[in-house]
Amino acid sequence: MKTMLLSSVALCAALAAPFAAADEAGMAAAGLQLFKHHCTACHSLDTSENAFGPSLVGVVGRPAASVPRFAYSQAMQASGLTWNEDNLRKWITDNEALVPGTRMRHVAITDKAEQDYLISFLRTLK
Ligand code: HEC
Repeated sequence: MKTMLLSSVALCAALAAPFAAADEAGMAAAGLQLFKHHCTACHSLDTSENAFGPSLVGVVGRPAASVPRFAYSQAMQASGLTWNEDNLRKWITDNEALVPGTRMRHVAITDKAEQDYLISFLRTLK
């Protein structure tokens, strides 16, 4: 009983600090599963290859529509966005609201924890 109590205390501490460095790997692993489910149909995980969508290697912090040899929509080219965390969150919540006229099919990942996991995972793509 005492052990159970202790481990649930530890679990609460882990949940209360989702951005602690120790949790980053776990979040990225959860993000990989979400990415496989929602994104790999169009975005290759294979190095820097473009697929139906542009490569997302190095996407965190880069300007939108900046991958060479990928045919972006006019809307994306004119967006003037940088893929910081805030914009990535808006993009996966409702990409068509952020960039009306984008060629990417609509995605709507509205769960805050799922968004955190996905963004953690995207950070690992270097
Ligand atoms: C049906 C195919 C498809 C799916 C599924 C898809 N994407 Fe995309 N994605 C695209 C296309 C096509 C573009 C280019 C859009 C444009 O030019 O308007 C794009 C663009 C992007 C960009 C901008 C990249 C840049 O270089 O500016 C990001 C970030 C992105 N997608 C993330 C994701 C994430 C994360 C998921 C999963 C939640 C996802 N996409 C699911 C097709 C897809």
